[in-house]
Amino acid sequence: MGSNIILIGFMGCGKSSIGVRLSYRLRRTVTDTDKKIERQARMTVSEIFEQLGEEAFRQMETQCLEQLIGERQEQIISTGGGLPLRERNRELLRELGTVVYLRVTARTVCARLASDTTRPLLQGGHPEEKVGRLLQERSGVYESAADLIVDVDNKGFEEILDEILEKLDGAKAPDRTKRLEENNETVGD
Ligand code: S3P
Repeated sequence: MGSNIILIGFMGCGKSSIGVRLSYRLRRTVTDTDKKIERQARMTVSEIFEQLGEEAFRQMETQCLEQLIGERQEQIISTGGGLPLRERNRELLRELGTVVYLRVTARTVCARLASDTTRPLLQGGHPEEKVGRLLQERSGVYESAADLIVDVDNKGFEEILDEILEKLDGAKAPDRTKRLEENNETVGD
């Protein structure tokens, strides 16, 4: 398994902002899949949806993950909210490293994205209804793709970062214990 830290979760949960802050804390580089796709396609996500369709965008997400497999590891990777929906992408995420799900409620998403125009899936009438429906459809997928879950509602960035790092440490500990047992060593050696 790769040694990247990958952030997944619904639109507006803070993946990109938290990714940047985590990269400062850990002194690692950060890659945002939406930004990488936009740079390579020379189009915004909205333009890709409008001119090429959602399926083409989803294909670009898969290609983006495939490229990341071949790139330098130890990165922080923030992803688009729909990226884990494809089974192939979930496989690639597992290969890439530890997957952290930033869990958010519909109420927070609606408050944060009330006047957003950059998310094609939330444009048009009744954004609250769309957020509620999509979040319900997707929560199980996010949970199944995740190694760790961090609830982000009503928390500041620092608190969220601390929690991510704590849980990442906790996730490593069982590996270490298992390795020590296999080598007939004891914790503390
Ligand atoms: C999408 C989320 C967006 C972007 C695209 C589709 C989704 O990214 O990839 O608009 O399907 O949830 P953010 O989660 O960064 O908003």
